[in-house]
Amino acid sequence: EKNISQEICDVIVLGTGIAGLFTALNVDPRYKVMVLSKGKLEDNNSNLAQGGIAACVDPKDDCISHYEDTLRAGAFYNRKDTTKVLIEEAPKNIKKLLTYGTNFDRDEAGNLRVTREGGHSKRRILHAKDATGREVIRSLAEEIKDRGNIVVCENVLGIDLLTNKNTVCGVLAVNEKEEKIIYRSKVVVLATGGVGQIYRNTTNPAVTTGDGIAMAYRAGAKILDMEFIQFHPTAMYDKENGQKFLISEAVRGEGAILRNTKGEAFMKKYHKKADLAPRDIVARSIFTEKIKLGKPYVYLDITHKNPDFIKNRFPTIYKRCIEERIDMTKEYIPVSPVQHYSMGGIYTDVDGKTTIEGLYACGECACTGVHGANRLASNSLLEGLVFGNRVVASLNKYILNIEIKPLPMISSVQYKGINDFVLDKMRENIQNIMDEHVSIMRSQKGLGYALKEVEKIRSALLGNGKSVKYYECVNICTVAILIIKAALKRKESLGAHYRVDTEGQGCIINF
Ligand code: SIN
Repeated sequence: EKNISQEICDVIVLGTGIAGLFTALNVDPRYKVMVLSKGKLEDNNSNLAQGGIAACVDPKDDCISHYEDTLRAGAFYNRKDTTKVLIEEAPKNIKKLLTYGTNFDRDEAGNLRVTREGGHSKRRILHAKDATGREVIRSLAEEIKDRGNIVVCENVLGIDLLTNKNTVCGVLAVNEKEEKIIYRSKVVVLATGGVGQIYRNTTNPAVTTGDGIAMAYRAGAKILDMEFIQFHPTAMYDKENGQKFLISEAVRGEGAILRNTKGEAFMKKYHKKADLAPRDIVARSIFTEKIKLGKPYVYLDITHKNPDFIKNRFPTIYKRCIEERIDMTKEYIPVSPVQHYSMGGIYTDVDGKTTIEGLYACGECACTGVHGANRLASNSLLEGLVFGNRVVASLNKYILNIEIKPLPMISSVQYKGINDFVLDKMRENIQNIMDEHVSIMRSQKGLGYALKEVEKIRSALLGNGKSVKYYECVNICTVAILIIKAALKRKESLGAHYRVDTEGQGCIINF
């Protein structure tokens, strides 16, 4: 296409969550880095993360137990080499994070406070009250402002990766004025985060449309494990569909109990760790109790704890509950599971390299295999740090002796265009189909129906628009199809992927 403006740099990072910012900060300062954010810098899942970062930094903890908990939660489907790296390199990356001024909660003696969450056998979650992600992103964003080699461009959506003979050479992007821009570089790092908006009910914000995964897929990169979608057990229940407010797992870590609508504490029936069982098990147990009692929610009860402790430890959650007229120090909170996280994504090796030369991925959009079939609580911010750091160690060397490759031909297509109303309806249709048929419990019949319907929407979309809304809708479609196809292929239940129609499946819950 003619007249597209061009920007040139050494490294492009797509995404401004923990993985993107940590990566950018660690690139050798001799290199020019451009960080693209499709919205504002703070519009991402990391910024919303409540619970914390799991890392073996407490003297009473040990790496082997963190490793074993990660594998157990992941249904032992985790890749052993990357998981070992995740756990072993956690302490050094936390140290580095602290040098950027991140303030975690500390005790009177100045030691880092650690809490517990589901699936962990020890207290090892570092936190900044109940808004850990906000504190991490604040500190990284402030640090970035002082770096002369890093430019952050907000409101720029990457449309497609530009490649030359399986080597990346840049990104074609669009800004909010629908102007296209070509960013040329030696290396591209995808840190675009999650896929929550493929579902109607999710903890993820509006920007999480799986763009990085869709772009990498179109460029021919290997995509893996997309059937493993995590549903967080305790999003605050309300009647409206849409983004849900999370009630952090740390609330259960500090003693909260799940009760059904008859007031019965039910988790002991399902798992020996009861309310602190791994997330996939808690989500399925809640689902089962909801069906049994015909109610759309269960309750989370922390009323037995000291009110001052609750208000001080969970100020964000307390405030939000009050806005919903629930005093969590005295009343139960209605909760229900919703989409939260994608274990699968763009395949990478232990250094974050994808199957395309010069293309790296880290954070939620990547599939390093550390989460197996179900992520252990608070291992996601950790993954962003550890693999962001690994990506940089690799790219700082890779970049030394290479030139930016020439651009491929970029085709000029005449669009008929689909109006925003129709695009919104398409997005909503896909989300409803995914919530109904590709959720906590799955069957061949439901998945088959979902595939047919989403493919119809994709055919109506292709080559038919140029707005940010349009590209997001295409990406939602692409990623939804990847998830459904992977879920159809995996006939047995494993971790977060649960097939109700599998032969010999006697019991609803996996132990
Ligand atoms: C939470 O605070 O419950 C979310 C933490 C996570 O997703 O690991």
